[in-house]
Amino acid sequence: MPTTDPTTLVILGASGDLARRMLLPSLYNLDADGLLPDDLRIIGVARGEAKDWAGEVKAALDERWDLDARIWERFSARLGYCAGDVTRADGAACLKGVVGEGGAGLIFFSLSPSLFTAACETLRAGGVIADHTRLVLEKPIGRDLETSRAINDAVGAVAAERNIFRIDHYLGKETVQNLIALRFANSLFEPLWTSQTIDHVQITVAETQGVGDRWPYYDDYGAIRDMLQNHMLQLLCLVAMEPPSDLEPDAVRNEKVKVLRSLRPFTRASAPQESVRGQYTAGSVEGQGASAYLDEVGKPTGTETFVALTARIDNWRWAGVPFFLRTGKRMPERRTEIVIQFKPVPHSIFGGAAEGDLVANRLVIALQPDEDISLTVMNKRPGLGEVRLQALPLSLSLTRTLGEDGGRRRIAYERLLLDALRGDQTLFVRRDEVEAAWTFVDGVADAWMEAGMAPRPYPAGSWGPAGAFALIERSGRAWND
Ligand code: BG6
Repeated sequence: MPTTDPTTLVILGASGDLARRMLLPSLYNLDADGLLPDDLRIIGVARGEAKDWAGEVKAALDERWDLDARIWERFSARLGYCAGDVTRADGAACLKGVVGEGGAGLIFFSLSPSLFTAACETLRAGGVIADHTRLVLEKPIGRDLETSRAINDAVGAVAAERNIFRIDHYLGKETVQNLIALRFANSLFEPLWTSQTIDHVQITVAETQGVGDRWPYYDDYGAIRDMLQNHMLQLLCLVAMEPPSDLEPDAVRNEKVKVLRSLRPFTRASAPQESVRGQYTAGSVEGQGASAYLDEVGKPTGTETFVALTARIDNWRWAGVPFFLRTGKRMPERRTEIVIQFKPVPHSIFGGAAEGDLVANRLVIALQPDEDISLTVMNKRPGLGEVRLQALPLSLSLTRTLGEDGGRRRIAYERLLLDALRGDQTLFVRRDEVEAAWTFVDGVADAWMEAGMAPRPYPAGSWGPAGAFALIERSGRAWND
């Protein structure tokens, strides 16, 4: 593990949306909590001249909070800016002048991945990337296995894997990390975490927002590459992986990779049975009219904005347990959750009126909009009459249980930036993981093409095409809606 603490953090693409909405607010919060190294400088790099970058950063922060003058003073003193194109030698030279002889400590690539290769080569040749420099890469790392390999090769040519930090911001979310604690810090769940007791797993990532102005990027990727290849497969890995021997980065990542490699490949024959693609048409979301994806793009397009599929993990623990995954834009509500559906009791002793009351236990790990972990448990309804049962939730809401202190909702990037500054790779994705995820996703995309599966329309504000319900209902189950 690298030991030097970076003294310069460079953000490439500093005028972009990610830097403004996520990275700078996260760094400000870390500074407010006293978690940034005292001597850390934050250097923004973008092509345009910034007359007053600190002023732009302040405006972005002001949009979110009332700034504390003392913290802002400390934070703004860290800021520096370099106007230049880092894929060209003069841009690299300008940045080198700002970071100094030793090169940068950490460089955050908040750039289009099409620029990664050129930026890496130029910055290495210009002395900005030194042997100790850590590179943080934002997704997408490629559009398929081949392009992802090309990027990984280019980055790998200028930095060692121990210095490459591939971000999946879902891994920075508190509840996602809590999933590891839930599974491995309790003796209660792990013995039950198998095909003997679990009937199926559902992972839903539903967003109300549409694609809007992002369509030039999105139209080339679609839901399967934008959300499933990374965030959803990472969630699946954390649910399905074997207990790692410890929390060392490679111990955890070795287990995740094994899950990805056990995913059953899709085929032309299985794809129509096991997956559904959808594209939103005009409709209404949360009471507001919403336009069709086709109208946002302005031309015919066969890109999916919704995908649901059944993932099967061919290993001892999960044989026969389907993982139902779905994600979509323009859904009726914003909801991200993992549902672990346990099997019913093997034999019911409750007859009479209570006979139909029994439902199987269900563990719901909610990430958005609220973070909560709740387990439904059967109870007797209070009263002197005939025995009746009811399902009640045992809930572990972080804010309710720990109060506001324990529950301040952090931006996922706070955790990830801090870990990158500390050189801890546990929550970052290793090259073989990214490539195993692409292998699975490429297989699905190829099977769709071979089977001629075009996206089915669904009205904005609905839970996707009818086929998404059929997908799960064919097996006698239902989505947790
Ligand atoms: C990004 C995707 O990675 O994740 C976006 O590119 C998506 O399309 C976003 O909206 C969702 O993140 P979150 O944290 O809001 O669930």
